[in-house]
Amino acid sequence: MTQREPNSDRPGAGGGDDLDAPGHGEEHVAVRPAQAGELPAIRRLIGLYPDELVQDELPRISSFFVAESNGSIIGCCALQVYSRRLAEVRSLAIHPDFRGKGLAAQLVDACRRRGIERRVRQLFAVTSEPGFFEGCGFTVHTGWKTAVFANLDPDA
Ligand SMILES: CC(C)(COP(=O)(O)OP(=O)(O)OC[C@H]1O[C@@H](n2cnc3c(N)ncnc32)[C@H](O)[C@@H]1OP(=O)(O)O)[C@@H](O)C(=O)NCCC(=O)NCCS
Repeated sequence: MTQREPNSDRPGAGGGDDLDAPGHGEEHVAVRPAQAGELPAIRRLIGLYPDELVQDELPRISSFFVAESNGSIIGCCALQVYSRRLAEVRSLAIHPDFRGKGLAAQLVDACRRRGIERRVRQLFAVTSEPGFFEGCGFTVHTGWKTAVFANLDPDA
């Protein structure tokens, strides 16, 4: 992992622009559904990864989960439900200062639980990081693109 200067890309706070970056001392990170007004902070986080993540036509705010540390959004992930058959895990990003702490796995798990609640049978992701998703229980199918799937319904 390329280490950047701490807080060189300052995580966005929930909708505001001027809050301080989270400290690295006593961190408490909460993973929760995103709230109205947090899309700008999510957009800034996703903007850190222009090569990995689609920047436009983001899912609606109600589709997102976020990881929050000291009032700043430092992780995000969305579950876009297409039908009872299929939903997509998208827009997964963790601020560089907070990688390697299990936060992405927690966010994907939040999406998985929402999918189960909504009785969606299968999740997929289109990703440059298939190894990460395999660790989350997805299975890689290779072809002209790579798609990863996780069955939520054992009969699917
Ligand atoms: C990929 C990314 C989301 C991982 O976030 P993270 O919070 O560091 O990941 P976690 O700490 O939750 O990792 C959970 C597990 O996956 C593993 N893992 C993390 N990144 C991985 C990768 N790129 N390939 C394989 N395994 C990976 C971790 O080692 C960890 O394994 P463990 O449970 O055995 O310890 C983060 O690096 C990121 O934001 N990257 C840029 C944006 C991006 O590529 N998004 C995904 C495209 S959809």
